[in-house]
Amino acid sequence: MPFGVIYSAIMPTVDNPTEKTLAELGVNDAQGVAEKFAEVRARFDRQVALDADGIRNLMLQEAWLGSDSDPASSLRNFWVGRKAGVLTLVTENWLKKSPPSLKGVVGKQFNELKTHIESKLEEQRKRIEEKTEASAATRDRIDLSLPGVLRPVGSHHLIRQVFQEIEDIFFSIGFSVVEGPEIETPYYNFEALNIPEFHPVRDDMDTFYLELSKGAATPLLLRTHTSPMQIRTMEKQKPPVRVIVPGKVYRRDNPDATHSFAFHQIEGLAVDTDITFCDFTGTIEYFVKQFFGPSVKTRFRPSYFPFTEPSVEFDVSCPFCAGTGTAAGGGTCSKCKGAAWIELFGAGMVDPAVYGFVNYDAKKVSGFAFGIGIDRLAMLKYGIDDIQVFFQNDVRFLRQFP
Ligand code: DAH
Repeated sequence: MPFGVIYSAIMPTVDNPTEKTLAELGVNDAQGVAEKFAEVRARFDRQVALDADGIRNLMLQEAWLGSDSDPASSLRNFWVGRKAGVLTLVTENWLKKSPPSLKGVVGKQFNELKTHIESKLEEQRKRIEEKTEASAATRDRIDLSLPGVLRPVGSHHLIRQVFQEIEDIFFSIGFSVVEGPEIETPYYNFEALNIPEFHPVRDDMDTFYLELSKGAATPLLLRTHTSPMQIRTMEKQKPPVRVIVPGKVYRRDNPDATHSFAFHQIEGLAVDTDITFCDFTGTIEYFVKQFFGPSVKTRFRPSYFPFTEPSVEFDVSCPFCAGTGTAAGGGTCSKCKGAAWIELFGAGMVDPAVYGFVNYDAKKVSGFAFGIGIDRLAMLKYGIDDIQVFFQNDVRFLRQFP
């Protein structure tokens, strides 16, 4: 609808017929009355058909928009408002002031117009209400196709991943996992492992003792190795025993590229009635090949630990230079420093003296134990040259091992 038409359609001041009496409009018969009412009705019909914006524009032009600025109620007010609505004007100027001969006709026309306007206004109100609700519904609709808020879940620390790798290998050959306390008594950390007080090995493990109140039953220290769990396990369980013990251990080492006061080990213990040195080396070899790949070789050298007899040190042929000691492009292999072998970890057959501490019959049982340094193994396998990066939590490092 062109703007001019809307404007003139409601212009109350410009020649507004409802502001005049019928006589002033020159109406003096039923036909004329019907025509005037038809004009008003047509004007109303045009306005009520407008949408909310159309009505708002119209009412703004007429300075009619109520303070609630709701277009529908403004339009209603414009037409049926008590004080100055069009119907009031029609009542005052046409109905009340009509000659007695036309009163009946005007009254009838007025009633029809009034009913028409009221029902149409009600329809329009409903229409606008529904539309508002529909658009609110569209606005508030949840779009299930949008991706949700992505929160980074992070990943396992490389040390945790290597633990898992090693645990999986030992699971596959019948070992299970046990864990133990990081605060230990000297009995479990030393004595029961055949390391009596004043044994020189304790010097290596000179470590963190807890400050306790006087009269405490026993001193306590941060465990220096996972080996105490050998004792705790055998105390609880009769042979056969096949366990690995992942965990943190502590020593009074000054931090450098290969030392940290906290690090990680996996202890292993297998005890049964007929375990031989062959079972021992076979198990270790299986593990090492699983971990570094089938082409590596293993070897062991005599060593010493108070809780194993005999004790050995296990080596693996250098996985980086295929055990040649020479780097791929010539020159000395930087990993094994040309030695062709890399020292891995200590192990041995359980010393019979240890069985005495856990009430196992040393004549009937035998077994082996090993203690793997996880940090060292992780550094070797993943080419990391500074143990400190494991503890610095720098995400640039961590992200390299998702
Ligand atoms: N507990 C030893 C350490 O921390 C490592 C070790 C060596 C554990 C030989 C063992 C073993 O179980 O048999 O240095």
